Amino acid sequence: MVETIEWTDEGVVLIDQTLLPLKERQVLLTDVHGVANAIQTMKIRGAPAIGVAAAMGLALVARQAATDDSMAFLQELEDARNQLAATRPTAVNLFWALDRMMRLARRTIDAGISVTVDRLVKEAQAIKAEDIKMCRAMGDHAVELFSEGATVLTHCNAGALATAGYGTALGVIRSAYREGRISRVFADETRPLLQGARLTAWELMQDEIPVTLITDNMAAFFMKEGRIDAVVTGADRIAGNGDVANKIGTYGVAVLAKYHGIPFYVAAPSSTFDLSLSSGREIPIERRHKDEVTHLFGIRIAPEGVEVENPAFDVTPVEMVTAIITERGILKPPTAEGIREMLGGG
Ligand code: MRU
Repeated sequence: MVETIEWTDEGVVLIDQTLLPLKERQVLLTDVHGVANAIQTMKIRGAPAIGVAAAMGLALVARQAATDDSMAFLQELEDARNQLAATRPTAVNLFWALDRMMRLARRTIDAGISVTVDRLVKEAQAIKAEDIKMCRAMGDHAVELFSEGATVLTHCNAGALATAGYGTALGVIRSAYREGRISRVFADETRPLLQGARLTAWELMQDEIPVTLITDNMAAFFMKEGRIDAVVTGADRIAGNGDVANKIGTYGVAVLAKYHGIPFYVAAPSSTFDLSLSSGREIPIERRHKDEVTHLFGIRIAPEGVEVENPAFDVTPVEMVTAIITERGILKPPTAEGIREMLGGG
């Protein structure tokens, strides 16, 4: 399986996802500006993966800080935190990881700067290791949801590339495939940036999991034909009531699944829940550049000057979600009480 992001003595190494599947190229990022730029331009993307990248970005800042004044050191971290926080607004894992790193820095600073640097570098690596563990646990829990040989549809890429490794939705799919519970995956291509076609299809083919690529507007056709038994997606932020923000088009897939009586599952680690928001209406939705819609790989496909909207995410209301799979277990159906209980449960 591909190594999405690594901490090395030289800096943060990640696979440039904008080039996949045509080129498998790793990039070395040696400062926080490089990390922030990589998140913004989606060299690294997917909610848990950008959380890990942001944590490593702060670890870089700590390691490079050229001051012996504790307050100045914390201020440098705070400035970097703000730079990283401004990259992408929807995936809450980014803010979760940044807050976790900053809390640790403030707690540890009295022990001295070098101790704090050491702890921050270790914490960033721990965030990565925990994410992989959570993905594997989600996979283990979810196997029971599928009957033998089921076919599933997924949207966007919620795989090893979108996490520290293994994946959320694709982690569930990997585990269920290994147990014979899933026999084939339908991957929506996921316009405008084609994460399904470029990344999900590539990842599944690398693992030799049978995958059929379809364009986004084909999902209804295959559901009507009875060729899809379940939908599994990831999430970028889940509000306290269970409303789920995920890649644009997810809501449409959920509506189709409901109409066709197909279960709609969301796989997400606890770092994706945002209990400060009571419903999905409060989730900030990223709006991206119009060129992502008017161009494909640099080639114009729409008339010059056309009005464009490009929301990167949408919100699926909790009533449409059959179950949320987390590393702590399955919420079926998801409810505000169930979520609070699960997250409070340590
Ligand atoms: O814009 P992206 O590619 O970062 O969007 C990614 C998604 O929407 C994923 O489904 C989500 O982050 C879950 S990843 C495990």
